[in-house]
Amino acid sequence: MAFPAAFMDNLTARCDIVDIVRGYVTLQKKGKDYWACCPFHNEKTPSFSVSPDKQIFYCFGCKKGGDVISFIREIENLPYPDAVRFLAKRAGLEVPEDNRNLAESRRRARILSLNRDAARFYHQLLKAPEGQAVRDYLQRRRILWKTAVRFGMGASLDAWDVLLNAMTRKGYSKAELLDAGLVVKTQKGGLRDKFRNRLMLPVIDVRGDVVAFGSRVLDGSEPKYMNSPDTPVYSKRRILYGMNLAKNTKRPGFLLCEGNLDVVTLHQAGIDNAVASMGTALTEEQARLVDRFHKKELVFCYDNDNAGEIATSRALDLLRNAGFTIRILQLPRRRTETGEYVKQDPDDYIKFQGVDAFERLLNGSERAADYRMSQIAAKHDLKTDEGRLEYSKEVSDFIVSMDNAVERDIYTHRAAEAAGVTKTAMEELVQRTAKAAYSRQRKQALRRELNPATQMVQPKERAFRYENVRSARAEAGLVRLLLMDESLFPVPFPLTREDFSAPLLAKAFFTLWDAKEQGYPVSFHLLSEALTQEEVSHVTSVCQEPESSENASKALADYIRVIREEAERRSERTGEDVLAAAQRKYKKRKNEGGTRI
Ligand code: UTP
Ligand code: MN
Repeated sequence: MAFPAAFMDNLTARCDIVDIVRGYVTLQKKGKDYWACCPFHNEKTPSFSVSPDKQIFYCFGCKKGGDVISFIREIENLPYPDAVRFLAKRAGLEVPEDNRNLAESRRRARILSLNRDAARFYHQLLKAPEGQAVRDYLQRRRILWKTAVRFGMGASLDAWDVLLNAMTRKGYSKAELLDAGLVVKTQKGGLRDKFRNRLMLPVIDVRGDVVAFGSRVLDGSEPKYMNSPDTPVYSKRRILYGMNLAKNTKRPGFLLCEGNLDVVTLHQAGIDNAVASMGTALTEEQARLVDRFHKKELVFCYDNDNAGEIATSRALDLLRNAGFTIRILQLPRRRTETGEYVKQDPDDYIKFQGVDAFERLLNGSERAADYRMSQIAAKHDLKTDEGRLEYSKEVSDFIVSMDNAVERDIYTHRAAEAAGVTKTAMEELVQRTAKAAYSRQRKQALRRELNPATQMVQPKERAFRYENVRSARAEAGLVRLLLMDESLFPVPFPLTREDFSAPLLAKAFFTLWDAKEQGYPVSFHLLSEALTQEEVSHVTSVCQEPESSENASKALADYIRVIREEAERRSERTGEDVLAAAQRKYKKRKNEGGTRI
């Protein structure tokens, strides 16, 4: 255990989950639980619940859940020990640090310091005579020296071990260099620099730490961009390139683009709110990062190609009901000297058309709703009756999902025009669709209130799917009972890990059980520590199912019996399989023998 049990008990006793969650969302009491719109996904009707009795939260929509520590982990993006420290600070408790924790945070601190030193080293090289090739490249890209400095750019040389040697001399170990992803193993088992002969682009987080590197080749060779792998201090899902600068912008929102150098060019041109998701589609974590700065709008400027369109759509889904307006900036294709039309990214556009033209586009950029509307229109053939009908259905679904009545009215009108029907007809369709959607939602909510348990037969995460539902239900029951009342359980416990059919439930149960055997109190926070967030969420969903405390002993006996029965059946089946295989083999041999004769 990373922190002493007594400390953890004290901490969890002082951090009431309702109080803590209230600091992030507005809770409403309904029955004995509290409800809110989920802070982890976008929704309009509350599916996020907090149970003061069980001291856990659970969202019936996105199925995230856990105890107060898991909540802080999720919402503050912190690893387990840091979430504990965060809560301790809030509760005014001193954290007893044990060696393993200290070692882990020291390891992270070392990687961050190594990254910073590496960034400095690359930057020195950029200024040195050896950096000429990269400086030439900057010039070709029209990146000013001032800009290169602001982004902390650097140069890696066309050599195998320049960084390795320099950092080793500074006292960093080979293991640390590997941990940071700055060197890689060679086939012969030695080490070499990961980045060679490239323009180096340090990735700096909002705290100002160098968490990773991006890099670009100077010529047309592959791969064009090479980035650090995920490391103990870097997860590419959580970072937006340029946010360390963009967070200080006075503009009303952020401009989200795909490429690192797009961000660089944009900032250089005075558009200082640009960030990049570095070639990947926007993730949930990045959406949350954007949300943190309470901006009013978000402008997407992704590539005008298929991949860019898919990325934009996905991002729109992620951010649909976030607190800002979303606009799409589609850059027109450019006609080359040969008369061909080619796509442009912000960097190209500013180079060929200038920043004023870009600002003009930016001011007039399409609202997300317009973008969606034209996307839906493009999917259907509006010249045929059938196409118009299909279009009307789809577009009314979309209109119904809008928050604002005026907006709904405007788009209903437009949809009617596009479909070539009267506005009244379109209005009627939208209303009918709205009614259907509303009654669907009501029914879902009702079902949830009546019986929160019925949906939980199979876990959401594929990796946790149960192979044997009957046994898994009983295993889940054991976890639930153990958390509810450990005194019910017989010692020694009559089942082993092998008797369990679901690996995750076995892990959860025996994490708790092992602690109990060592004399620690059974508590949910043991799971927060031992399991991943996804695993914790699933175990929380298991805890949502009702368990009666009156018949608990009987339930316990039943669960144990069922698990035993299923385990026995499994072992019989393996026995059967062996027999069947032997028989098949025998038959096959006989047949082969037959043909030979
Ligand atoms: P693009 O291929 O669109 O390139 O990649 P770009 O940004 O226009 O690059 P330049 O202008 O030729 O320099 C967009 C982003 O995708 C990531 C990078 O973050 C890049 O900025 N990417 C691209 C990679 O991570 N690896 C690659 O091999 C290519
Ligand atoms: Mn480009």
